[in-house]
Amino acid sequence: MRVLVVGSGGREHALVWSLSRSESLGELHAAPGNPGIAKLAHCHPVRADDHVALVSLARELRIDLVVVGPEAPLVAGLADELRHRGIAVFGPSAAAARIEGSKSFAKEVMEAAGVPTARALPVARPPCVVKIDGLAAGKGVWVCRTQEELDAALPAAEALGRPFGVEELLEGPELSVFAVAAGEAAVAFPPARDYKRIGDGDEGPNTGGMGSFSPLPDVPDDAAEQIVELVHLPVLHELARRGTPFQGLLYAGLMQTDAGLRVIEFNCRFGDPETQALLPRLEGDLVPLLAGDLSQAPQLSDRAAVTIVLAGDGYPERSDRGTPIEGVEDAEATGALVLHAGTALHGGKLVTNGGRILNVVGLGTTVEEARTAAYDAAGRIDFAGMQFRSDIASG
Ligand code: AMP
Ligand code: GLY
Repeated sequence: MRVLVVGSGGREHALVWSLSRSESLGELHAAPGNPGIAKLAHCHPVRADDHVALVSLARELRIDLVVVGPEAPLVAGLADELRHRGIAVFGPSAAAARIEGSKSFAKEVMEAAGVPTARALPVARPPCVVKIDGLAAGKGVWVCRTQEELDAALPAAEALGRPFGVEELLEGPELSVFAVAAGEAAVAFPPARDYKRIGDGDEGPNTGGMGSFSPLPDVPDDAAEQIVELVHLPVLHELARRGTPFQGLLYAGLMQTDAGLRVIEFNCRFGDPETQALLPRLEGDLVPLLAGDLSQAPQLSDRAAVTIVLAGDGYPERSDRGTPIEGVEDAEATGALVLHAGTALHGGKLVTNGGRILNVVGLGTTVEEARTAAYDAAGRIDFAGMQFRSDIASG
């Protein structure tokens, strides 16, 4: 089977790493990929938002399956364009991807499907959460516990010039549950947890994600099946009922509140960086699963995985480019997996190229062991302005 992965981040590197271990894989391609992906797949200089060029690339390479990593091309209809030309794709149609692309659509679908979520509030009054309606790369959400926070959030949301909503503030531990879905059928990955705030102790602004781990001490791996019954399947039925069945990865961001499980958001693709803490545990073959064979749920090992995101100077406000990166080989020599997220090669030298630069994944028999392995490896990497959280997977 010839597979093309679309995207260039740490999630796509994890997908490529996992696909490259498959027995059913023939050729592996990526567009555009990154220097880490280039060690495992043929990279093509085609951007994820250039649909015309991606369709011709897939035809030229006689690709059997396109795996789309990021949400933006899915929301913009890349999967539809590929399918119209007879190319199989892992990723939903634009109509089904609205479950991520529009928070108000997601709320409407959840209400129709009877899936518990935060209530929309008619007036903005603390405590509450202000949310941009469309895609915002994890940066369109303001959690307001005080009037002061709300007074800062409202102008910031208005300044983006896009519709936004206000909803009830939920409290409790968060978890992410991924289901591989084909219409009304779905199989679950075990729960994972990510860390969205930039600073230790969940301080500071939201980011695209600063770390992740699995398994979770408070939610066993096998709880995912019941969560899929409660949350994902009703939404999949509702989308199918509306004539827009979902094919691909349906990601539920959940909160375990005192009143029970609540959905915070749905995403229409693998989560970043949770994928980087799930796929390294995968024992089965990823290719058949993404190609639509849901006869078996993904089999994960009992090992634990902890992923530390190394971000660049100024993140999340700005990106960093061209800063030399040292120590990746030393980190890999410890046995850790180093996934590239925002890197580039300048004259053969690895440099920063984005906000989140690298993901370091440690594995171990316990979360504690995996965490020690991840931080030990991360400590061997260095670049000017490097920032990371020191409390990933520590409770
Ligand atoms: P979202 O982009 O909807 O995933 O929101 C990003 C993050 O904001 C979530 O992971 C939560 O940490 C936080 N958040 C979003 N909605 C709520 C809510 N209703 N109550 C509490 N926290 C929330
Ligand atoms: N981990 C958050 C996201 O992928 O949106």
